[in-house]
Amino acid sequence: MPVTHEWWQRGVIYQIYPRSFLDTNGDGIGDLAGITRRLDYLAWLGVDAIWISPFYPSPMRDFGYDVTDHAAVDPRFGTLEDFDALLAEAHARGLRVILDYIPNHTADLHPWFVESRSSRENPRRDWYIWRDASADGGPPNNWISAFGGSAWEWDEATGQYYLHTFLREQPDLNWRNPDVERAMLEVVRFWMARGVDGLRLDAVQNTLKDDHFRDNPPNPDYREGVDDPFDRLERVFSGDRPEVHAVIARMRGVLREFSGERVLIGEIYNRVERLMAYYGEEGGGCHFPYNFQLIRLPWEARAIDAAVRRYEALLPPGGWPNWVLGNHDRHRVASRVGPAQARVAAMLLLTLRGTPTLYYGDEIGMADVPIPAERVQDPWEKNLPGKGLGRDPERTPMQWSAEPNAGFTAGDPWLPLADDYRRTNVQGQRGEPDSMLSLHRRLLKLRRAEPALAVGSYAPVDAQGDVLAYVREAEGTRFLVALNLGHDAATLAFDGAGEVALGTHADREGTPVESAIELRGDEGMVIRLRG
Ligand code: NOJ
Ligand code: CA
Repeated sequence: MPVTHEWWQRGVIYQIYPRSFLDTNGDGIGDLAGITRRLDYLAWLGVDAIWISPFYPSPMRDFGYDVTDHAAVDPRFGTLEDFDALLAEAHARGLRVILDYIPNHTADLHPWFVESRSSRENPRRDWYIWRDASADGGPPNNWISAFGGSAWEWDEATGQYYLHTFLREQPDLNWRNPDVERAMLEVVRFWMARGVDGLRLDAVQNTLKDDHFRDNPPNPDYREGVDDPFDRLERVFSGDRPEVHAVIARMRGVLREFSGERVLIGEIYNRVERLMAYYGEEGGGCHFPYNFQLIRLPWEARAIDAAVRRYEALLPPGGWPNWVLGNHDRHRVASRVGPAQARVAAMLLLTLRGTPTLYYGDEIGMADVPIPAERVQDPWEKNLPGKGLGRDPERTPMQWSAEPNAGFTAGDPWLPLADDYRRTNVQGQRGEPDSMLSLHRRLLKLRRAEPALAVGSYAPVDAQGDVLAYVREAEGTRFLVALNLGHDAATLAFDGAGEVALGTHADREGTPVESAIELRGDEGMVIRLRG
């Protein structure tokens, strides 16, 4: 393929939740050495980069998103030497490595916060966000925490509240303090100097808050008892402030100090129009803000068709698209849309225009695993039980084989395994031409071989009933993608002829098609068009 685009545009990212990937020392928790051991698998699968969720020293209140040292490795995951080995081995296989960078908050046990809360006079007091109580003695404003309750925690010893957008054990840093910015940019430098290829910016829109700490307005669309309580307010003052873009630009500036094309990916849950600002001015923002629409949209051809067109239309000049089907915070795609549609979803993810991010285990069709109450780990589920918000179900151990514990650990796994792991696992699916794993591998191979699919243009085709369709084109090669999002047979009428290059069902490949495509229920096809 002629190299007209950067690796992060051409390539496919694979997200690894390190606790759940592979445990090499029998403590039931995945580790860095486990990732290194599976790099051959990832290269075989055909992805281009891995994003590893946090492995920094942490009290694990939020499983690594509560950091006590941003520039080190938690002993449960290994050592810095293990990380260097992982990076070198990944690079040796042509795989890029993206890390999770958590700018918004630290753990409450981070030495910075320990100092900050020690007294009002401590030089690090202002490194976090401390405010006096409101006139009635309550919290300074109405902001709520993503994990339930007020975003403010009263500190008895010093008589002020501190802000925590997430858990009370995750106090928010004060990025308006230049020393905080300096220290946190040093962290970026530390990992860049070690050779990492990019960062996923955790909750980056939250890093700057309204300088007057105004109350968030109520969300008029909020449905009591139905929606996540975090959505009760429109979070227009607690985050997504204009000042955040200058901070992201400075993070980007640090990347430019290093050779090679390194990437910044923003984790931003917001309306699509709001996402666009995160591309920054003149390429000074993120390389792309994550686009989570496929996780949130109803699984309907017309709704998805409209959303893809709209997103494409809203992208700023030079803004590169991207798509996500699942991650460690949202229920698995196989559970959201069902196992048969998960194959169609994989074809959608890997044939839309823009960088796809694939969540570990989705390539074998792993589903959410029900977690018995006594084994719940996720603080969100513990705070707001029974609402379906808990994230443990989508974080269960990777299913490698039919061996005990799916070959994930020789010890007791930190979360239970899926009941069906003896049937759903990498080893069993490897040799089966029609397996979910083989489908992913075929899709990744075709995408890599065909510039039209990797970086080509996108042209919508009107959805017909349950059939979603679009055309990808580059250098005179055109592919029509036709996806039946329904369970019943359906037909897509189109002008032209071609042959099936790839099907969700391998028996279709090579079949000629002309003017109408007959799709079985839950079937998708990539058709190479003639002429
Ligand atoms: C987003 C992460 O993906 C999630 O897992 C975490 O709990 C919050 N940010 C807080 O860091
Ligand atoms: Ca381990």
